[in-house]
Amino acid sequence: MKKRLEKMDVKEKTVVVRFDYNVPIVNNEIIDDTKIITSLDTIHYLLKNNCKIVILSHLGKIQKEEDKKNNSLAIVAAKLKNLLNQEVYFSHNLLDPELLERIKIMIPKDIILLENTRFLDIPNKLESNCDIQTSSFLASLGEVFVMDAFASAHRAHASTVGITKFLPSCIGFSVERELSALNKFLMSPKRPFTVIMGGAKVEDKLELIEAMLLKCDHLLLAGGLANSFLKALNFNIGASLATKNAKTIEKLKNILLNNRDKISLPLDAIVGSSYDKTYTRYKKINEITDNEIIYDIGVKTIEKYKSIILKSETIFLNGTMGVYEDYRYSNGTKEILQILKESQKIVVAGGGDSVSSVKHFGFNDAFTYLSCGGGATLEYLIHGHLIGIDSIMEEENIEILDV
Ligand code: 3PG
Repeated sequence: MKKRLEKMDVKEKTVVVRFDYNVPIVNNEIIDDTKIITSLDTIHYLLKNNCKIVILSHLGKIQKEEDKKNNSLAIVAAKLKNLLNQEVYFSHNLLDPELLERIKIMIPKDIILLENTRFLDIPNKLESNCDIQTSSFLASLGEVFVMDAFASAHRAHASTVGITKFLPSCIGFSVERELSALNKFLMSPKRPFTVIMGGAKVEDKLELIEAMLLKCDHLLLAGGLANSFLKALNFNIGASLATKNAKTIEKLKNILLNNRDKISLPLDAIVGSSYDKTYTRYKKINEITDNEIIYDIGVKTIEKYKSIILKSETIFLNGTMGVYEDYRYSNGTKEILQILKESQKIVVAGGGDSVSSVKHFGFNDAFTYLSCGGGATLEYLIHGHLIGIDSIMEEENIEILDV
């Protein structure tokens, strides 16, 4: 059993909370605030208990110095301030001892959000490599740690796992809610169990796909994942996003060979062009030419996927069918969501893109459960546990380190 927030003595304490505020931002605007809304229950509980709240989160992928420019959490602090109707302080500093002084002078119910923890990855990956000194410093900012970042619970980083080695720790309300919903609907799913996966890079999901194939009855693919499988089958996918790695392609061939009956791939597509932004065509999957780019699934694919969905009892949706934000390529995603809604089956959508598309097309209340976790949800379904919360147990049998 995980130690729950309600079982933790937080009254009047300084509490460090890890949320997942990795929200989609377009033109300096948060286009889906689901993850921020999800964090409010835990924040309200801590406010009720007169805590000082120190919030940690990551945002985006930070691989080089320039990535910092577009991934500051300052925009989230402003959003949180609006939602809570109270001041939310923002600190650009993360590892600065001055931060300790700043937190010391905070009063109960004050909230401070610290800058993107992944900024610490430049140059030495202090966050992602779970650096022990970094973990210890983050822990020194409070007296208790609450892990409430479900979507990051598959990452053993300084701000998720490292910090638990130094502070009494528990899970927050959104992690608790996610675990109980996923246990209920997906851990022993009603069969047939169908997984629908979209997404860009097949390399990121290869292991998960292989493991998922052992759990599900059908796997329906779209996006860059599907393109790579089509390429492995020697289809010309033009200039579409797909793996270039020969070893990966060999692996995909084997996966296809061993799972002929389970994997479904697009039969047709809506394509654009690599040199003409106005060009859009319907193409059968064997008609694609060198400069065309697959941006959405076509009607035949929708029909094929529909027939599998209607024969299923449980469906897990992870990803979208195409570039749904562009109306020319939105039909596949919208139609599949409509079919899922009308199916009246157990439907769980997981991951930033899936949930954003569900909200974009107004299907908010159409499904059994919307999970904030993408990678985390997949990992939980496959392995039955998550490295980012493994160390948080009800019985505090872990030794709290002092550095
Ligand atoms: C997510 O959106 O799935 C989480 O925020 C995790 O992001 P990551 O894959 O960059 O760790």
